[in-house]
Amino acid sequence: ASTLGAAAQQSGRYFGTAIAGGRLGDSAYTTIASREFDMVTAENEMKIDATEPQRGRFVFTSGDRIHDWAVRNGKRVRGHTLLWHPGQPAWLQSLSGSALRQAMIDHVNGVMAHYKGKIYAWDVVNEAFADGNSGGRRDSNFQRTGNDWIEVAFRTARAADPAAKLCYNDYNIDNWTWAKTQAVYNMVRDFKQRGVPIDCVGLQAHFSSGNPYNGNFRTTISSFAALGVDVQITELDVQGASPTTYAAVTNDCLAVPRCTGITVWGVRDSDSWRSSDAPLLFGGDGSKKPAYTAVLNALNAA
Ligand code: G3I
Repeated sequence: ASTLGAAAQQSGRYFGTAIAGGRLGDSAYTTIASREFDMVTAENEMKIDATEPQRGRFVFTSGDRIHDWAVRNGKRVRGHTLLWHPGQPAWLQSLSGSALRQAMIDHVNGVMAHYKGKIYAWDVVNEAFADGNSGGRRDSNFQRTGNDWIEVAFRTARAADPAAKLCYNDYNIDNWTWAKTQAVYNMVRDFKQRGVPIDCVGLQAHFSSGNPYNGNFRTTISSFAALGVDVQITELDVQGASPTTYAAVTNDCLAVPRCTGITVWGVRDSDSWRSSDAPLLFGGDGSKKPAYTAVLNALNAA
């Protein structure tokens, strides 16, 4: 196959990208995005600040624009993200305790009701674990409402849209030996044992000198999958875009049947949240980089 999406489909997987609403008027951008990818994540437009800027007043204009573009171009959509500690509107930051817990539940219900039946998988909770060696939860306003907030979010989400896969998504959980990876693994195992609804784990896979790709990434993917969840690589980018690393990540996903797809976090280097790292598959001029060819060849060899 000659595009990433079509090549991934040969093994029943998808290959997606983050789409920024502000770029949809750029035809060089949309030409590449519509040609190459078959899954779309809104880079920012479905986050809390975008979707519920004031309590109970939901705004879906920007999210819908991306969703509509995706559907018009034959792509599925990952929902990103319902509950996350940064980028919270002031009204939410001002709440605590049971009022915050209720607002959290109402947010999940409000956004998921709007997109009911239209989302392949939701990142229900994003980045709830602490960095470093503590193996604990990140301190956040949600966490201070009680340790059960994550499972409450997942139970709420299941009831709100039973058709959507429900994912826990995080960064720096790529390396199997890291405490943060083990902490998330233990939570997912606990959820599966106790029947808390969870269908997938998103490994963001932002690789850099601080989080270098390690060959044990495949162990991470297969270990999560063995718990009975799908694994998705949700925000892939690689500082410097090493073709070797991109091929290795692709092959690691292809090696695990329950690794259902890969999403890169942007189209061209110039679209990246860390553009100075030139971490993506297309140059700012739209050209295919060596990393692109490495990924395409790996997908076609599967
Ligand atoms: O759109 C406004 C613009 O109107 C304003 O003038 C400008 C001034 O700051 O800000 C613009 O918004 C920025 C937005 O990106 C769009 O460019 C926000 O400030 C900025 O915080 C936001 O950054 C995003 C970041 O998440 C925080 O939400 C990045 O684009 C996005 O790539 C990044 O993505 C995250 C994932 O959601 C979760 N995992 C990590 C990943 C990378 O940080």
